[in-house]
Amino acid sequence: MFEALAAKPPDALLGLIKAHSSDPRAHRIDLGVGVYRDADGNTPVLKAVKAAERILHDTQDSKKYLGPEGDAGFSGLLQPIIFGDMRRFEGRMAALQTPGGTGALRLGAELLRAARPGATARVGAPTWPNHAPIFASAGLAVEAHTFADLKSQTVDFDGVRAGLAAAAPGDVVLLHGCCHNPTGIDFSRDQWREIIDIVKSQRLIPFIDLAYQGLGDGLEEDAWATRLVLDSVDEALVAYSCDKNFGLYRDRVGALYVLTRGPAETATVASNVAWLARVAWSMPPDHGAAVTRIVLERPDLTAMWREELDAMRARINGNRAALAAADPALAFVEAQRGLFSNLFMTKAQAVGLRERHAIYCTDSGRINLAGMQPADAGPIVAALRAEGCLAAADAA
Ligand SMILES: Cc1ncc(COP(=O)(O)O)c(C=O)c1O
Repeated sequence: MFEALAAKPPDALLGLIKAHSSDPRAHRIDLGVGVYRDADGNTPVLKAVKAAERILHDTQDSKKYLGPEGDAGFSGLLQPIIFGDMRRFEGRMAALQTPGGTGALRLGAELLRAARPGATARVGAPTWPNHAPIFASAGLAVEAHTFADLKSQTVDFDGVRAGLAAAAPGDVVLLHGCCHNPTGIDFSRDQWREIIDIVKSQRLIPFIDLAYQGLGDGLEEDAWATRLVLDSVDEALVAYSCDKNFGLYRDRVGALYVLTRGPAETATVASNVAWLARVAWSMPPDHGAAVTRIVLERPDLTAMWREELDAMRARINGNRAALAAADPALAFVEAQRGLFSNLFMTKAQAVGLRERHAIYCTDSGRINLAGMQPADAGPIVAALRAEGCLAAADAA
């Protein structure tokens, strides 16, 4: 039977990680990885998380099933952090814990497919490579429009307008809430307002992916767009991940929030997402969500987490400033946000960076700003120049 299957290509990022770790050159720099790294190149467990894990270890007296909604304390305590004053959404929001942001995206896509089988998901390109496959696997049609121009490192707003103009009522628009992956290019506030106008006039459903809250400009600032969208529309979905801002990656911590028109719909949506979760993974893994809940229940641990998050953000933005200061052609990097920027380069140039300079980024030119030290800015710029990767930026 299995002879009918064709092999899937190996995960390019895993190959990159392996190639970097087996590279004997001492000066190697890993800008390819998709996680936060501290100044020592580690991705440590946060102190607030460690403290919460100790509390969980000492106090948890049962591991009996929780149910498909997962830890309601977890998804509830996150709500004010994401959405602000929850009285605005009284009776209008269904919440469910999911295995990471990925699980939330998948479950949301399945809910949309069940609610509106003919809907198309509209995604701006480039985007996180998993977005289109997740929506397609859930049975939605997927259409991509241009989101950003990497040569000029700006939003291609005409491309976005054209993509949304082609959408039919009830189509889904995937929007990165902040810290766009892979470009680091977020919409301006005016662009968000225009997108909301289009979404309302075309009667589209916004599906916000918020995977990096706090890693851009701050917890409140990074939630600005999500809050504005939810304040402006009747129905929306938010896929949230705690895997980056709590450093919990492998523990798979996320939540799906669905905004509805009122309590009756909320109850129906809640029962539908619970059913979809039940037939997909029955219930989400508990540990990471329980730990996050404990961090958010205890003011001392919440303060500790916020400090650690501030430090992560300061390091990323400090590296952005260092790279921008090292060459005027990279000035755009400073204004971008989140872990990533996407330099304009060919695959041959990315390979050249690896082979001749021991600098690792994806073949598409995505760099992780947390993978470098400020002192690496000089060697990175020299390598980019040697491989001709800054020609487009010079010309812009
Ligand atoms: C934009 C975006 N959305 C969602 C996710 C998924 O996050 P998680 O690891 O919580 O599934 C990622 C992870 O890299 C991401 O970059």
